[in-house]
Amino acid sequence: MAPLIQRIGRQALATFVAGDTAAFPSNFERLKTLLDSVTAEDIKLVLPEKSNGSYSRAPATHVSIFECPIFTLAVFILKKGCSIPLHDHPGMFGLCKVVHGQISVESYDIQSETILNGKMEGLSRNPIRSQLKRRLIRCKKTEQTFNEDSGSCVLTPTSGNHHTIHNTSTGPSAFVDILAPPYAQEQGRDCTYFKECDPSAVTQNPGIQLDGTDSWILEIPAPREFYCDTQPYSGPLVNLQVISELSESR
Ligand SMILES: [Fe+2]
Repeated sequence: MAPLIQRIGRQALATFVAGDTAAFPSNFERLKTLLDSVTAEDIKLVLPEKSNGSYSRAPATHVSIFECPIFTLAVFILKKGCSIPLHDHPGMFGLCKVVHGQISVESYDIQSETILNGKMEGLSRNPIRSQLKRRLIRCKKTEQTFNEDSGSCVLTPTSGNHHTIHNTSTGPSAFVDILAPPYAQEQGRDCTYFKECDPSAVTQNPGIQLDGTDSWILEIPAPREFYCDTQPYSGPLVNLQVISELSESR
């Protein structure tokens, strides 16, 4: 039988290549079931600080397993005490499975959205974008913890699409990540960052209904303190030829 990571790659393609069909829910569930069982051993996980004797400076390390226009399959390794800041996945599905350590995922489901005018602070590097409108979003926030024994964390275009991922382990944490379709700025799927805020502090718009149970998030520039370095993948290869041929025949 093919290595688990290759079967995951094939199932990801089967799930996402056809788009939103009647078979999508069962295909998605099959993909999640496969991903739920993946372990650090299946991908021959190498933690950055053990790979070359020196500790990585970046808060996160990205290990690409496979990329194609249909989906990406990768590993993210978060350094102790580090987080991936609040960001979105516009129009995308995502699954992430912890294979080492423990993460806490704060997810935000959009309830309503307001467009604020005016300059966005902290965008001096990009004066054109600093003039753009920014979104203030009212959300329902939930928080879940995932470790090696947990199933995959799932996001869809309409559920859990905005999230923050904190490493809550006493050391590094690592998770396998599937995104479909991948980020593509030219197709309107750029990653936007947000921060929680007090809406009354950023707007006096009387149309905003304040509800004590809601969270509010405000579009911000990409946080400068967050960046990824990269590391080569050392696990079983996903069969590039089979997947590429199938995605090209789409
Ligand atoms: Fe994410």
